[in-house]
Amino acid sequence: MAATNYLFALAIACLLLVSLPGLSCCDDHNVDDPRRGRDLAEECKPSGTLRPTTSHSCEDCCKAGQSYPTYLCSPPTSSSTKAVMTLNDFEAGGDGGDPSECDDKFHNNTENVVALSTGWYAKGRRCNKNIQINANGKSVLAKVVDECDSLQGCDREHAFQPPCRPNVVDASKAVWDALNITGDDVGEYDITWSDA
Ligand SMILES: *[C@@H]1O[C@H](CO)[C@@H](O)[C@H](O)[C@H]1NC(C)=O
Ligand SMILES: *[C@@H]1O[C@H](CO)[C@@H](O)[C@H](O)[C@H]1NC(C)=O
Repeated sequence: MAATNYLFALAIACLLLVSLPGLSCCDDHNVDDPRRGRDLAEECKPSGTLRPTTSHSCEDCCKAGQSYPTYLCSPPTSSSTKAVMTLNDFEAGGDGGDPSECDDKFHNNTENVVALSTGWYAKGRRCNKNIQINANGKSVLAKVVDECDSLQGCDREHAFQPPCRPNVVDASKAVWDALNITGDDVGEYDITWSDA
């Protein structure tokens, strides 16, 4: 009887502990990052914040007063690095902003080209090299031509877009087509990539 009472009390105590809001077990330090990626790696913490003073009305553009985290790092790479693939326009006048960082040229969106987050861009170390992208049961080679700047943004040079998340492969339409990702899925897609 005493043992049963003891177990009952223990069960009640456990229930109370679990339901107390302040005692949440989960680390939600990224909860304030409005643009956090689905696979934002724990290893890579923001290096700073951008807080623009002017808003721009274009879609996804920076808003005044909002704070945008910046990243010097990207998650560590492996033979199968997780990333979020986004769609970039590499042509003149597109939302990609200035010419590509590697060659100071615009690129045809029919070419398999990508921009990588600042950490993975690695000061140009991957410029003009191919990476292999795996997604949707397919793989494609794409040439690194640009940096998806994780440190700067919200200015004309970056088409008033917020700084890039640290884990982005920003790819041309050709890459999306080669991976046969179409329709509503075009925009943001979980992929893996490796140096080719
Ligand atoms: C892009 O490439 C396609 C075929 O590869 C070509 O027809 C088109 O003119 C090119 N566009 C530009 C802006 O170079
Ligand atoms: C592309 O995906 C569609 C389904 O979304 C599928 O029916 C089609 O066979 C795929 N094409 C190739 C070349 O894999």
